[in-house]
Amino acid sequence: MAKIISNISTNSEDFKRRYEFNKKKVEEIEAIRNELSKGGPPKAHEVNKKRGKLFCRERIEKVIDKDSPFLEIGPYAGYDMYDNSAPCGGIVTGIGRIHGRDVMIIANDQTVKGGTYHPITIKKHVRAQRIAEENNLHCLYLVDSGGVFLPMQDEVYPDKEHFGNFFYNQAVMSSKGLLQVAVVTGLGTAGGAYVPAMCDQVIMVKNQSAIFIGGPPLVKAATGEEIDAETLGGADVHTRISGVADYLANNEEEALRKAREIFLNLPRRKKYELDRVEPEDPLYDPEEIYGIIPEDLSIPFDVHEIIARIVDASEFEEFKPLYGQTLVTGFARIGGYLVGIIGNNGVIFPESAQKAAHFIELCSLRKVPIIFLQNITGFIIGKQYEHQGMAKDGAKWITAVSTTSVPKITVIIGNSYGAGNYAMAGRGYNPRFLWMWPNSKIAVMGPQQAADVLTMVKVNQLKREGKDVSEDEIKSIREKVMKDYEMKSTALYSSARLWDDGIIDPKKTREYLMLALEITLNKPIEDTKFGIFRM
Ligand code: COA
Repeated sequence: MAKIISNISTNSEDFKRRYEFNKKKVEEIEAIRNELSKGGPPKAHEVNKKRGKLFCRERIEKVIDKDSPFLEIGPYAGYDMYDNSAPCGGIVTGIGRIHGRDVMIIANDQTVKGGTYHPITIKKHVRAQRIAEENNLHCLYLVDSGGVFLPMQDEVYPDKEHFGNFFYNQAVMSSKGLLQVAVVTGLGTAGGAYVPAMCDQVIMVKNQSAIFIGGPPLVKAATGEEIDAETLGGADVHTRISGVADYLANNEEEALRKAREIFLNLPRRKKYELDRVEPEDPLYDPEEIYGIIPEDLSIPFDVHEIIARIVDASEFEEFKPLYGQTLVTGFARIGGYLVGIIGNNGVIFPESAQKAAHFIELCSLRKVPIIFLQNITGFIIGKQYEHQGMAKDGAKWITAVSTTSVPKITVIIGNSYGAGNYAMAGRGYNPRFLWMWPNSKIAVMGPQQAADVLTMVKVNQLKREGKDVSEDEIKSIREKVMKDYEMKSTALYSSARLWDDGIIDPKKTREYLMLALEITLNKPIEDTKFGIFRM
């Protein structure tokens, strides 16, 4: 296969300056991640320790195979939201290996407001279940939660993808043979009682866990009955009397060992056999990516340089290299696995959109997963391109990307604006995983364009009303829009709201992709049936 020859000079001033800028960005983002991973305030940790309970991350560490990776999903959830009172969204989710099986782990953080569910906690829980269902993963719930965060009940309880959706998802996954296991290490209250109750197998910890539909205060208020938590719905009650749970563990360690045993006795399923050869490192150091990404993303960079630092041996069999050159398509290997890659090298023209649709057809027929490297400002506009049918060529691409059955994995490496986000397998197009690089941006349009559009609309409106608009007023409108757009299009803003699965270090992209590809192979790749391609 042809090797990509890099044109980057690692001694140039541009390279060195960009390298320092991006390295610092990565350090800043990782410092935030470390802080968020501590969970709730020190006071809550002290109480937790005094009770002799493990922290949710310690539980995960103990339940997964030693020295195996944990692919955390949504580590930035809740950042700078709710006065920063829900770090990590109050729940830790990710894929770990238990006796070699890929398992989605959903663990309440009891140090964050008693493990209760804010809107972002709900979104994260549902996202984790969706990943599990899409990739045929078994689920392990580490339950320690007071249920709904009551002050925000209207935003977490009634809607389609709110609290009730958890149990629906569990029932559906169980029916597909995806094992649902709960280890109850604290409370499962009210709706929260149904996370364990809907599981296939449930473990409770003696004198520490309880499950009830109404807790002692509610029982007292409703019936006048005075009862303590243990007598109402403790581990002994549910494993001996009610049958709500199946196993009684003397402590958390024993409960986690029991969970591992349950997965050990699960029949192994064969993974989909994607074409694979012996993996090879890229020819170029992935850390050089720091020196390639410009500080200001309006400056273009060549996506071939990124591909060269992600794929095995920097080998890339490019498809249609001379046609529609603002889109780069081709086959490569990552960790030995055969993949298709689609990356941006500028604005989308009708030819580039047609090329994308053609390439997705090739991958779909061959059942080869597709990696999308997004750095896109949008589709070309203007009379010539409208007449040429940009919209119908864009529609072909969107049809292909929406209906292909092959796993899609998206990494936003630069800009992600407008319809380009959609065509390049943005969140709405169900890529199995979607990550952002620290300096990347996501919005309907860039701050500059948004400021131009909104200023023009406002000025026309004021003129219609017969009012004069001064230069100062125009400047102030522009600045306000620009500031708002800049703040709301950062990777951190996106990741806090779970528009993506996390912000990753560009130099580790290859490792994330390898892990993600292996996880997707838990599900067979089906034949693709496309819809109508507008001709
Ligand atoms: N909604 C909002 N906040 C809640 C909450 C809820 N359901 N449950 C607990 N909290 C908050 C507490 O106000 C406290 O906040 P603070 O740290 O700012 O003071 C924090 O979570 C920890 O609560 P605390 O009771 O001190 O901790 P705990 O570990 O002793 O007990 C619970 C945690 C969840 C077991 C206990 O608070 C409880 O039973 N809560 C009510 C659960 C319930 O009935 N939920 C109904 C769900 S539909």
